[in-house]
Amino acid sequence: MVKLIWDNKKDSKPEISEKFNINFFKAFENHSFKEDGVKNSEIWANKLFWSDNIEVLYFLLHSFKETIDLIYIDPPFFSGANYEIKIEENDKIYDSIAYYDHWNKDLDSYLQMLYERIKLFKELLSKRGLIFIHADWHANHYIRLILDEIFGENRFVNNIIWYYYNKYSAGKKNLPRAHDTILVYSKSGSYTFNELRIPRKKPRKQLMRVNVNGVLKNVKDKNGHVKYRTVKDKKLDDVWRIPCMQPASKDWTGWPTQKHHELLERIIKIGSNEEDLIADFFCGSGTTLLVSEKLNRKWIGCDISEYSIYLTRKKLLDYHKETEYYHPFEILTNLDAEKNTKIESGFFQKEISIKRKK
Ligand SMILES: C[S@@+](CC[C@H](N)C(=O)[O-])C[C@H]1O[C@@H](n2cnc3c(N)ncnc32)[C@H](O)[C@@H]1O
Repeated sequence: MVKLIWDNKKDSKPEISEKFNINFFKAFENHSFKEDGVKNSEIWANKLFWSDNIEVLYFLLHSFKETIDLIYIDPPFFSGANYEIKIEENDKIYDSIAYYDHWNKDLDSYLQMLYERIKLFKELLSKRGLIFIHADWHANHYIRLILDEIFGENRFVNNIIWYYYNKYSAGKKNLPRAHDTILVYSKSGSYTFNELRIPRKKPRKQLMRVNVNGVLKNVKDKNGHVKYRTVKDKKLDDVWRIPCMQPASKDWTGWPTQKHHELLERIIKIGSNEEDLIADFFCGSGTTLLVSEKLNRKWIGCDISEYSIYLTRKKLLDYHKETEYYHPFEILTNLDAEKNTKIESGFFQKEISIKRKK
């Protein structure tokens, strides 16, 4: 078997650590209350973690082993850039970093970061689970080898190409880069996979066929002429033409690298069924979580950035206002002094606007 090696590759086996015990994360905001103010502990509450995901993954090993049906992650891509945002709060305008993807060209530490987490994802995935890892040309070739090593080459399901035709991309000595890849692997040989169909540009005439004892035969009319039917849709293949999010979209949040809802809708519909548990451990502006909510899936989300948690929380609460069918959710963190001050200052309830800095 081919294996990827890098300096200081640590091959540790994920283990349940007592450090991340049941008291490690505490909910500091709870949207699980009924109108009368009584918490309905019978019902599942979705979970949004404000933390480095490695801690959340170790914490979840205690009670979520083999329970998550679909994991989608859209991690930093090793792009060499840090993503900046402009924040407007009342009369104050200030800049901040949305998230770091610089790594000082240290590919080894980037790969180690993903390697450790992917091992834990595998532990948490249910037996019929699928993992979708979003990447681009910077590191997708390495990630595929890591997935082969952890999940096994025979668990490779797809390499989806997301073709974003509307993003300007310069390329003087190379072709303009206009796609990302989404690598899909399964936990076992038997996994949830729902076929999706998409509309054709033009309806097409297709021969009508029937299955006679395992052999496909053309259907003929009483005069012996073959019969046709008009098909308006087709099976979705592994090249997806979906635009990049634009500021004009109603779903736009201002978060750099926010993904299109349609992308997540396809992923979640293909790899899960209603009531299944979906997780995104690099959730950014919460696209995966909101789409899961709309498609009646349970979810767990996590991000290290308070601005990401701010946007995700707001987006979910705005959606809850629009609909009476929603799942309760709680926001959890390992409270240190800095986080405590932020929460107590009412940061999450403030009206702030977050814009991507050009
Ligand atoms: C590409 S963005 C995700 C965008 C998201 N898919 C969306 O549609 O908005 C990557 C996210 O990973 C988060 N992140 C990076 N390192 C992390 C870590 N160690 N733990 C948790 N989140 C992390 C960043 O804060 C950032 O929000």
